[in-house]
Amino acid sequence: MSGFLVRNATRVLTRSLAQATNADYIRIVEVGPRDGLQNEAKQVPTEVKINLINQLSDTGLKSIEVTSFVSPKWVPQMGDNSKVFSGIKKKPGVDYPVLIPNLKGLESALQVDGIKEIAVFASASDGFAKKNVNCTADEAVLRIKDVMDAAKLKGLKIRGYVSCVVGCPYDGAIKPSAVTSVTEKLLEFGCYEVSLGDTIGVGTRDTIDAMLKDLWSVTTADRLAIHCHDTYGQALVNICTALEHGIKVVDSSVSGLGGCPYAKGATGNAATEDVVYMLHGQGCVTGVDLEKLVKAGHYISTAIDKPTASRVNKALYQKYSL
Ligand code: HMG
Ligand code: MG
Repeated sequence: MSGFLVRNATRVLTRSLAQATNADYIRIVEVGPRDGLQNEAKQVPTEVKINLINQLSDTGLKSIEVTSFVSPKWVPQMGDNSKVFSGIKKKPGVDYPVLIPNLKGLESALQVDGIKEIAVFASASDGFAKKNVNCTADEAVLRIKDVMDAAKLKGLKIRGYVSCVVGCPYDGAIKPSAVTSVTEKLLEFGCYEVSLGDTIGVGTRDTIDAMLKDLWSVTTADRLAIHCHDTYGQALVNICTALEHGIKVVDSSVSGLGGCPYAKGATGNAATEDVVYMLHGQGCVTGVDLEKLVKAGHYISTAIDKPTASRVNKALYQKYSL
C-alpha cells in the first residue's frame, strides 16, 4: 500500500474510534478574558472585563482564565489583574486560573484572595521565548520550575502551556521532538495538564497529527489540551485532529477575541461559540449554553467595538436576541 493509502486508512480508523466516543464530555477552557483581551491596544475598562467573566461563568463553562500577572510594562492591558480577579463572582464548580510568568507574578497573585489555580507558559522555540519572556526557552523552563516549586507549597493547581507547537513567527517550523521535550518537563514538574499552543495558527491537520504522535512517547491524551489560534482558518480542523487523538480539553476564546502581543499578525483562538457548536453537532457534551455564550460574545464585541470573529455568533445573535 502506498504511504498515502496507509495514512488515510489510519485516519479513517482514528476517526471511527473518535465517533465511537462522541458522547464524551469535552472540557472547554475559556481563555478570552486573558489571551483574547491581552492583545487589545485600547485599555478595556476593568468593569467590562468583570461583566464579561460573570456572563461567561453563567454559561456552564467550567474553566475561565481570568487575567495574567505579567509585567504591565510588557502587557499594559493586564495591569488591572488584581482588580479583575477580586471583582468577579466566583461560581462554585468553576476554576478561575491566572497566567504567571515568574516569581514576581506569583507573589502578586498570592496577595489576591481566592486564586487557586495558575497557568505557566513555556515555548518550544527560542525565538518566541526571547520575544515573549525575554530569555531562552531553556531559561524559561528553569524559571517555571521555580514558580511551580513555590506555587506547590501554597497548594495551587498548575496548568502548563507550550507555545509554538508547530511553528514560530521567528524560528519557522518546529520539530515535534522540541514540543515533546518541553511538555515532558512541565508534566514532570507537576502540571496537571499541558495545553499545546499553535500560537500563530499555522498548523494543519498533518502537522498537528505529527506533533501529537511524537508526544505519545512521553504522555497520554488525558494530560493534554489543545489551544489553536485561527490565523489561517485551520483551528476547528486542528481541534478535531486533537479530538481524534483522544484529547478532551479544548482552549478557546469567546467571540474569537485576541492574538498574542509577541506574535505579530496572529489572530485570536478558535471562537468558543464555534467550538461549542461543532462539538454539540458531533454529539459531544460541553455543559455550555450556546445562547448565553453568544450573548456574552456579543457583549464583549460591542464593548470593544469590534465585529465578532465567531461565525456562529454572527449566525445566531439575531435569532437569540429576538
Ligand atoms: P523582563 O523585563 O526581563 O523582567 O521581563 P525583569 O525581571 O528584568 O523586570 C523588569 C521590570 O518589570 C521590573 O520593574 C520588574 O519589577 C517588573 P522595574 O524595576 O523596571 O520597575 N516585573 C513585573 N512587574 C509585574 N509583574 C511581573 C513582573 N515581572 C517583572 N510578573 C517578563 C520578563 C517575563 C516579566 C516579561 O517578559 C513579561 O511580562 N512577559 C509576558 C508577556 C506576555 O504576557 N505574553 C502573552 C502571554 S503568553 C501567550 O499568550 C501564549 C499562550 O496563549 C499560549 C499560545 O497561544 O501559544 C499562553
Ligand atoms: Mg494563546
